[in-house]
Amino acid sequence: MRSSASALYNRLFRAIRYFRDLIGSISMILFKEYKIKTKSCQKSDLQQVIKIYREQLGNGAEKAIQRDQALFNKVFYIFKDDKDIVLGYCAYYIHIDLKRGKFIKVATMDSIAVDDVCKRQGIGSVLLKESINELKENNVWRIRLFVYVNNLSALNLYKKHGFKVVGMKDGICSRGSCYEMELSLNNLLEDAQ
Ligand SMILES: CC(C)(COP(=O)(O)OP(=O)(O)OC[C@H]1O[C@@H](n2cnc3c(N)ncnc32)[C@H](O)[C@@H]1OP(=O)(O)O)[C@@H](O)C(=O)NCCC(=O)NCCS
Repeated sequence: MRSSASALYNRLFRAIRYFRDLIGSISMILFKEYKIKTKSCQKSDLQQVIKIYREQLGNGAEKAIQRDQALFNKVFYIFKDDKDIVLGYCAYYIHIDLKRGKFIKVATMDSIAVDDVCKRQGIGSVLLKESINELKENNVWRIRLFVYVNNLSALNLYKKHGFKVVGMKDGICSRGSCYEMELSLNNLLEDAQ
């Protein structure tokens, strides 16, 4: 009985997620690109991206990576060397939320990773900088992400680019408790005026 209830809950959860992804991807039809050092991930890049993902973060999110590429490829940033080899990536999905009676776009970072051989060379920062700028230019209200509490390199990277811890969650990061972090692009827009 309990297992059929949880199967029903999972199906419902997946259906809602699918619907929100679809609406989010439709909201990106007019998305403008400002990429300079990064590119958007094409289907042909996926194998290299998944290799980096597996080496850096383990297994389990391959389907999510494929979904992000298929539905949100303009906000799936990759960094390549001059031989066309992918050295790092940063993938987001966009959902529409309701805030004070207004529909707003929220980007969630699904995953970021850089190949071991070129860490600490600024690639993670390039991926974040260009993506934050492009999301801001496209009126995304805020960016959120989840990071394992002991992942100091990623925590430092996010803090360096202005993200703030807004909460703590269990059951999202496979390794244990994680921080929920946010960067409000709406404030940045207001600050810039
Ligand atoms: C997190 C990650 C993407 C950073 O990429 P990177 O290209 O090495 O980062 P950068 O060289 O641009 O470094 C930018 C900042 O990140 C922080 N940082 C990066 N590596 C760090 C490390 N080993 N220790 C502490 N801080 C680190 C620093 O603040 C650094 O700024 P600084 O060089 O001025 O000190 C990379 O370490 C990685 O792929 N980690 C494994 C995957 C992962 O954990 N992803 C996050 C999942 S939530």
